[in-house]
Amino acid sequence: MDERAPLWGGRFTGAPDSDLIRLTTSIGVDIALLPYDLAVTKAHARALEKAGLLGGDEVAAVEDKCDVLLDEFRAGTLRPDPDEEDVHSFVERELTERLGETGRRIHAGRSRNDLVATDLRLWSRDAAGRLIAKCAQLIETLCSRAEQHIESLMPGYTHLQRAQPVTLGFHLAAHGFALARDIERLEAARRAAANCPLGAGALATSTLDIDPGAVAGELGFQTTFDNAMDAVADRDFACDLAYAAALCGVHLSRLGEEVVLWTSSEFAFARLDDAWSTGSSMMPQKRNPDVAELARGRAAAGIGELTGLLGMVKGIPLAYNRDLQEDKALLFGIVARAESCLEAMTGLIATLTFDTERMEAAAASAGTWATDLAERLVTRGVAFRDAHEVVGTLVAELERSGRDIVDLAAGELARHDPRLEPSDVQGLAAPAAVAARNGPGGPAPERVTEQIAELRTLVRSSTASG
Ligand code: ARG
Repeated sequence: MDERAPLWGGRFTGAPDSDLIRLTTSIGVDIALLPYDLAVTKAHARALEKAGLLGGDEVAAVEDKCDVLLDEFRAGTLRPDPDEEDVHSFVERELTERLGETGRRIHAGRSRNDLVATDLRLWSRDAAGRLIAKCAQLIETLCSRAEQHIESLMPGYTHLQRAQPVTLGFHLAAHGFALARDIERLEAARRAAANCPLGAGALATSTLDIDPGAVAGELGFQTTFDNAMDAVADRDFACDLAYAAALCGVHLSRLGEEVVLWTSSEFAFARLDDAWSTGSSMMPQKRNPDVAELARGRAAAGIGELTGLLGMVKGIPLAYNRDLQEDKALLFGIVARAESCLEAMTGLIATLTFDTERMEAAAASAGTWATDLAERLVTRGVAFRDAHEVVGTLVAELERSGRDIVDLAAGELARHDPRLEPSDVQGLAAPAAVAARNGPGGPAPERVTEQIAELRTLVRSSTASG
């Protein structure tokens, strides 16, 4: 075999066009699969030995050379030619160059179609594990910041308008629960990847007596394929991971947006640490939240790649088609972005300084007590719709006279509506409003303490099951 010829060159007399090579090569992307390709090759060599197709000394030589290749790869000295077709042909070529005849025996009973699916499943399993660990770190950071601010009042918003008083701890814990769901989805994606396609061959297994179960077990897979055609064509596991990671990116974009708002002069609820702010090349006074903005902006690429992946799989006939080669750049991109944003947002949240006085003043501002006052009337038998009307009129009146409810003179409240009592006003202050919301899932400090404990339990159980 000519050293540079493609693996499949035997039936051709002419060489491939250089433009074909440029289009079809994927080594620049799938080189990331090299450690997995080597692990799969070692397991496959042992399966060939069990089938009597490779000698014990040959298997030892393959294993040894695979380890050497991995060391060289990690040291940065193993560099494929840019024209190399893909990581699988590269590994086979290297083994053949280093082992001669033994290297030429290794591809028996397998195809690049089952090989690439196996490599990518192993990669996905590890990627899901890394993302789970990084989500867990960010959740823990949110929990410890929430713990410090279990009583720090702030306005809760709907439509970005001040709605009802909550605490910063409650607000930060809310982001933690979104990330906890990300962990659940990532775990599901990791389980979806845990089925081994090796032995499916090109699409219909092989005539050789190779035991897929043994290979699967060695590689740490839970199960083997049920149908070889499905096994080489299936990228559902990649879509599952892409969705889990893209949605995690969306959650980070929402947290990022809050940080952008909170650190603006308009809100001025929080200040970024120097290590997590950027400056402006022109305006010396600027302190920019670029990290939070990138968490917001990068989610867009993740959504695009997820859509790209689904579009790529859509409508392709069984079994393997070269379209499927495009899966890797898309999936690797989504995962890399989610990883970098998780890391950066963890550092940023850990070092944010909150202006709790300013947040508290905003929590006490006009009208955030209105729902509570209406609910007070409801406890006295008033229909909520009527209570809403009464309080709405009161709010409008206060607005017109430029006063807050605490500015009302004694008796004025009852004159406004006889069912209102002067003592109602005391109970409307933000701390009391928060404390009174002590039902399950509410913002009362004791409830947020429970929520933080729940988040920590979720994180512990998921990271332990990894
Ligand atoms: N580089 C290819 C991919 O990533 C490997 C499989 C190629 N198989 C084939 N029959 N052309 O999908």
